[in-house]
Amino acid sequence: MAQKKILLTGGLGYIGSHIIASMEDPSLVVIADNCSNCDIEQIDRLKQLVALERHQVYLVDCTDLNAFEVIFKENEIDTVIHLAGLKAVGESVAKPIEYYTNNLNATLNVLTLCDRYHVNRLIFSSSATVYGPQVSPMNESMTLLKTTNPYAETKAISERMIEDYCVVHPEMAATSLRYFNPVGAHPSGIIGEFPKGIPNNLLPYVQQVASGKRPWLNVFGNDYETSDGTPIRDYIHVLDLASAHLCVLKSPQAGYRIYNVGTGVGTSVLGLVHAFEDANQLTIKTKITDRRSGDVAESTADVSKIKKELGWVSHYTIQDICKDAWNFEQKHSK
Ligand code: WQD
Repeated sequence: MAQKKILLTGGLGYIGSHIIASMEDPSLVVIADNCSNCDIEQIDRLKQLVALERHQVYLVDCTDLNAFEVIFKENEIDTVIHLAGLKAVGESVAKPIEYYTNNLNATLNVLTLCDRYHVNRLIFSSSATVYGPQVSPMNESMTLLKTTNPYAETKAISERMIEDYCVVHPEMAATSLRYFNPVGAHPSGIIGEFPKGIPNNLLPYVQQVASGKRPWLNVFGNDYETSDGTPIRDYIHVLDLASAHLCVLKSPQAGYRIYNVGTGVGTSVLGLVHAFEDANQLTIKTKITDRRSGDVAESTADVSKIKKELGWVSHYTIQDICKDAWNFEQKHSK
């Protein structure tokens, strides 16, 4: 009897790597990745942490149905964790067709192959950005409003595609996980977030200021209606995010479910900067600049549903996040 495998699309990426590094039995993993946002060395980094073999990795693009289907022909896939997708919010505004084409075709191919090969478990990497400009804390019963960018729209549309698929496939156990702000790195410092070029996101940029790659951090506006005037986000350690996936894996339930994955705790931009300085005993130079278009004042999660239904809670603190992030940056500063 062939082993039932867990397919991670985009598995060599930031989130996928940390899920694999957290798995009890990585021999069950199959990875599909086109390396559009990671490098092939990620396989060797993962092999330092878990028993992963090269044959478990397929360098394929999930939007290429024929190439993607080979994985399902060669492995008995039991579960798909669908992480593959373009994910830069600002870029999506500039390149909407690329984002809709890539992200929606990837999800459509996942569903097509789940149907063709009778795969009945699916976890989808969704995002808090699907909520659009709503009042925090966000909860899963909120009606989704039009969002501010094509990236978020691709996540909202993918959620609806999966929900509609489940209506005609009652045997499917599908879960959308709405990530808030994934940050930090594996405590080993071997894997973490490798942003290509200038980091869009806050913590990777702070890391690069700390390591001297960038002279200072531009703080995009301090005139928001928050305690210190800077925007508030729900920063969740990437290993907490990984554990939420493993928790869902252990408790499949036929039908379609949605869970927020965050900490429920908000931290402002300057609050994160100060936490990074305190945790690592260093100074981050900052300059207040204009607001970044598309930003909201606050985005934090109501995490009561995943706690109530799955018993999952986050464990890592902001201090843990800042220490792990700096440890990773120091190990990878060229
Ligand atoms: C956080 C705060 C910035 C950089 C994004 C995506 C979201 C998800 C997580 C994919 C904001 C401020 C940032 C800087 C700054 N990714 N900031 N100076 O925008 O909340 O969420 O990443 O799912 O989809 O939207 O995260 O880290 O970019 O910004 O002041 O150099 O830090 O204005 O208030 P964001 P972020």
